[in-house]
Amino acid sequence: MTEDVLLKGVRRFEWAKTHMGLLSEVRKRLKKERAFEGLKVSMALHVEAKTGVLAWTLSEAGADVRLASCNPLSTDDSVSMALREEYGLDVYAKKWETRNEYYSNLNSVLDLKPDFLIDDGGDLIFLTHTKRKELLRSVKGANEETTTGIIRLRAMAHSGELEFPVISVNDAHMKYLFDNRYGTGQSTLDGIMTSTNLLIAGKKFVVSGYGWCGRGIAMRAKGMGAHVVVTEVDPVRAVEAKMDGFEVMPMEEAVRSADFIVSATGCKDVFTGKHLDTVKDGCILANAGHFDNEISKEALSKASKKVEKVREFVERYDLTNGKSLYLLGEGRLINLVAGQGHPVEIMDMSFSIQALALEYLSKNHESLGNDVYNIPKEIDEEVARIKLKIMGVKIDRLTASQKKYLTDWKEGT
Ligand code: ADE
Repeated sequence: MTEDVLLKGVRRFEWAKTHMGLLSEVRKRLKKERAFEGLKVSMALHVEAKTGVLAWTLSEAGADVRLASCNPLSTDDSVSMALREEYGLDVYAKKWETRNEYYSNLNSVLDLKPDFLIDDGGDLIFLTHTKRKELLRSVKGANEETTTGIIRLRAMAHSGELEFPVISVNDAHMKYLFDNRYGTGQSTLDGIMTSTNLLIAGKKFVVSGYGWCGRGIAMRAKGMGAHVVVTEVDPVRAVEAKMDGFEVMPMEEAVRSADFIVSATGCKDVFTGKHLDTVKDGCILANAGHFDNEISKEALSKASKKVEKVREFVERYDLTNGKSLYLLGEGRLINLVAGQGHPVEIMDMSFSIQALALEYLSKNHESLGNDVYNIPKEIDEEVARIKLKIMGVKIDRLTASQKKYLTDWKEGT
């Protein structure tokens, strides 16, 4: 029997909420203190169940919230419906948004005239600095979720064009060490397997980029029995990949025998027209980076005589050179296009950081300049301690004499 869409969304939300124990603890306190009373918060995140729990958490703590998607293909329509109809949230998002719909939804969340923004990838923040400049008078600060967004925002701060303080949620240890590595690792493999139903074991699996996301993808692909090849531009990361046991080589070489190529660089033009003559026939292309410019769709289209949808989330490009390539999820984040994003427990940590970063920003924005700030260590450690408690893990504490040993240089000898 087909599950009613609304019921499906409600169940997904409730499942996520039940398994987000860290955010529950954070929510209890924020709600009791009415920490966000009267604050208007505009959010652009991937609209799926865990994001719904974050938006609901902020509203439970008193905030007036509006939520749009930060990607035209990543919305879970059942959750979007449930958030609107069951949880009373203002949500502007659907799957397969056109470019116009995407920007129209971002503009709708900005019509709230927000005090604070929560962004993933930077598009919402950039709108306030370009087409919606009138909002710069009232926006007091923003949180940014992801590496790609932070790279762009640091560039803006560097050139003096950033007009309010931004907290880099991405750079919290309790975010990137787990979300970017284990979250992307598991969810990317999940998205590739869901969309293709093909075997990973025994395949040549090329991972481009050995940042935290690439490390996670490579680790999980290896765990599933793939022969993993890493491509990099950073010499230190390339050494690390080699010593982690992976083959390292330039993309031009890697494409020749690749069964899968997965990009996770945060940069454009990773797989382009120059690879089409040598790439292995039948190769599957997927992207795990924030934007859909890592695999050049333009080059693929130009070199193809036919493009056909062959499965949900899979398009076959028949090239004029006689080869066929498969592109997953139109080159957009495959873990969210074909899957449900990172595992619940991962987003529990990331979104607890988000909620606490918003609390920090709302209390401290007046003393912060127009720059990108890392989250205070105390917040990271608070989240880690609650997570340990939830996992039932106890750790040691330094004795007074150990503390002295670590801080008094005369003690060492
Ligand atoms: N779910 C919500 N936001 C996400 C993100 N940035 N990556 C993966 N899954 C998510």
